[in-house]
Amino acid sequence: MKTFNEMWEELSPYLSVEKGLDEGYADGKYTRFFAKYCKHVDGIDISEDFYKQAKENLKDLDNVHLKMMDAIKTSFDDKSYDVILCTSFHEFDLSGKEKFSMDLNLKTNILKEMMRLSDTLVFAEISPTNISGELYKVFNPTEDHSFRTEVSNLLIDKVLRDAGYQRIIEDYAVDEISYPSKEAFLDDMIDWWNEVKIPKDEEEKKQMQTEIASILETEKMLTDLTFHDIFRYTVYKKEE
Ligand SMILES: C[S@@+](CC[C@H](N)C(=O)[O-])C[C@H]1O[C@@H](n2cnc3c(N)ncnc32)[C@H](O)[C@@H]1O
Repeated sequence: MKTFNEMWEELSPYLSVEKGLDEGYADGKYTRFFAKYCKHVDGIDISEDFYKQAKENLKDLDNVHLKMMDAIKTSFDDKSYDVILCTSFHEFDLSGKEKFSMDLNLKTNILKEMMRLSDTLVFAEISPTNISGELYKVFNPTEDHSFRTEVSNLLIDKVLRDAGYQRIIEDYAVDEISYPSKEAFLDDMIDWWNEVKIPKDEEEKKQMQTEIASILETEKMLTDLTFHDIFRYTVYKKEE
C-alpha cells in the first residue's frame, strides 16, 4: 500500500493544472493539498458550517475560492475545469439533508454534472476495508458504511465507463493520522460523526468511547496513537 504522500505524488500530474474544482471540501484539509499543485482551485460544499470552517482554515491561500453550492446543479460552464477532485465524497449521503441514505439516482446525477464540467476526474474515497466502517456502527448500528462505500465505488466506475471515461489509475494509500494521547484520540473520534449522533450525556459518551477503543485496538491503533485512514484512489479520463 502507498503512503499518503506517494498517493499525492502519483496524482500530481493530473492535479497540476490551471483550473481545478474540489467537490465537498468540508474543513478544507485536502483542498490545501490540491492547492499545492493546481494554480486556481474552486471549492464547492453544500454546508454553511463547513463553508465557514474551510474559509477560516484556508485563509492563508490566495489560489483557493470557496463557494456554498450543491454539486447536483452547479453554475459553472461546460468543461470549465481541467480536473475535479473528490475526497470522501461519493460514499456519503449527498442530499445535504444528512439522511445518510444511499440514493443511487442522486449520486448518478452528481456524477453526470461532474462529467459536464471536466474530462478528468480524481477520486480518493475511503476504502471499504477502512476500519471506519466498524466505527460508524457505534454512531448508527443499522448503517453499513463499508457496503455503501463499496456500492459507491462500483457506481462511479459504471457511470463513468458507460460515458466513455477510462480508469487510468487505481490504487490504495493510507493517511496516518497521529494523536498526542489516547484521550485526544478518543475525543476526536467522538466528533467524527457528530452529524449522525452526539452522545446525550457523559455516561453515553464513555460507553461509545469504550466501544470505539476496542475497535481501534483490533488493529493496535490506540496503542500506536495513529489512525490508519485507508483510501482507494482512482483517476478517470475521457478519451478524445
Ligand atoms: C465526508 S465529507 C468529505 C470532506 C472532505 N473532502 C474530506 O475528504 O475530508 C463530505 C462533504 O460533502 C459535502 N456535501 C454533501 N452533499 C453535497 C452536495 N450535494 N453538494 C456539495 N457538497 C456536498 C458535505 O457537506 C461534506 O462536507
